[in-house]
Amino acid sequence: MSRSSLKLAIIGGGSSYTPELVEGVLKRLDQVPVGEIHFVDVEAGREKLDIILALSQRMVDKVGAKIALTASLDRRAAIKDADFVMTQFRVGGLQARANDERIPIQYDVIGQETTGPGGFAKALRTIPVILDICKDIEELAPNAWMLNFTNPAGLVTEAVSKYTKVKTIGLCNVPVSMKMMIAEMMECEPEELSLECAGLNHLLWAHKAWLRGEDITATVLDKVGDGANYSMKNIHEEPWDPDFLLALNAIPCPYHRYFYQTDAMLAEEKAAAAEGGTRAEQVMTTEKELFALYQDEGLDKKPEQLEQRGGAYYSDASLNLVDAIYNNRNSLHVVNVQNNGAIASLPDDAVIECTAVVGSWGAKPLAVGHLSPAVLGLMHQVKAYETLAVEAAYTGDYTKSFMALAANPLVPDISRAKAILDEILRTNHDYLPQFATR
Ligand code: G6P
Repeated sequence: MSRSSLKLAIIGGGSSYTPELVEGVLKRLDQVPVGEIHFVDVEAGREKLDIILALSQRMVDKVGAKIALTASLDRRAAIKDADFVMTQFRVGGLQARANDERIPIQYDVIGQETTGPGGFAKALRTIPVILDICKDIEELAPNAWMLNFTNPAGLVTEAVSKYTKVKTIGLCNVPVSMKMMIAEMMECEPEELSLECAGLNHLLWAHKAWLRGEDITATVLDKVGDGANYSMKNIHEEPWDPDFLLALNAIPCPYHRYFYQTDAMLAEEKAAAAEGGTRAEQVMTTEKELFALYQDEGLDKKPEQLEQRGGAYYSDASLNLVDAIYNNRNSLHVVNVQNNGAIASLPDDAVIECTAVVGSWGAKPLAVGHLSPAVLGLMHQVKAYETLAVEAAYTGDYTKSFMALAANPLVPDISRAKAILDEILRTNHDYLPQFATR
């Protein structure tokens, strides 16, 4: 890329995470010359957007950067001529997330933001909106890169890749968090580690880990099985069974607990829902505190309290990617892109999460070929669910939706799948125009 001043459009700019993104921009101005950031949100997020704009301005002024900041509800103005469009919005806000978490647990099914029926509901609400955003990008910034954080990131990226012409890469903070946690247990710098990552978003395995070229996979599995810190702020840290890790012979991601330790995770979710509230309900409190802090006119940096949220390192993941694209680094990043042969048994157009080479030309996954049967079954089942869920969200078709939920490995039988689906459709009625004819 040759532009000497970049424009970023941040969709969902009123998010409490945004100060981390701004910090990431300010840290890299020597490599990534951002000249303009346009934060955009919807009416319901107006107040938060104004608070974020004021804090971001103080952060920019503090380092004397020359970045023009704008905040508005005008998505098209934000997207127009942007070089990068970053998407991090939540349709229906935290209340919709709380519903996603509470509906399934009534049926003894995992209730979680991105996996299981909760992630499915979020995909139904989100995919029509992202496709709409993509129409604006196709028209107003056809050369822009869309970096998507919006959950469920794998499904959202798959919808964009299948149904639009927008250049897109999906991103998550789990891979970088895995690297940081492994570095901590190995007492080394993260840059000294190499991980061979391949799987799906929030279902990512590091099949091999190396420290300065030495294979340390078995050591890492030992340490994780021995209780080393291996979780994110938003995921209950259920201990891993060391014998299982030995059998798996791949390093799971923290989200794998929902699939491999379903009983314990469900029990914890139900207890939390009955006591302190589901994760979304806890986050509502954290958000209030964060926005109260953000309004302090003496605050001109990202406050430490933001670390209570699960999204640690997300700005590093995204700004390092911007750097790789802008400077044509041809460097390695873990991203969500179409498979194109990287995992031998998956279709080319399925979006996977994997280590990829990234440059100005895009992202190309490193091939891992045939994966072990220990991971294959679960990965295929989740991918089948994802494919069906993306189609369901796109078409608003009840039958496809039913099949998607029935195919989800966290939903144990079709009577529960149907009951949960009907409740999701009822509860989310206002956010699901594609199902309107039902
Ligand atoms: C993790 C996930 C993100 C998710 C976040 C939720 O970091 O990778 O996809 O958005 O947690 O954190 P929260 O603090 O909102 O529960």
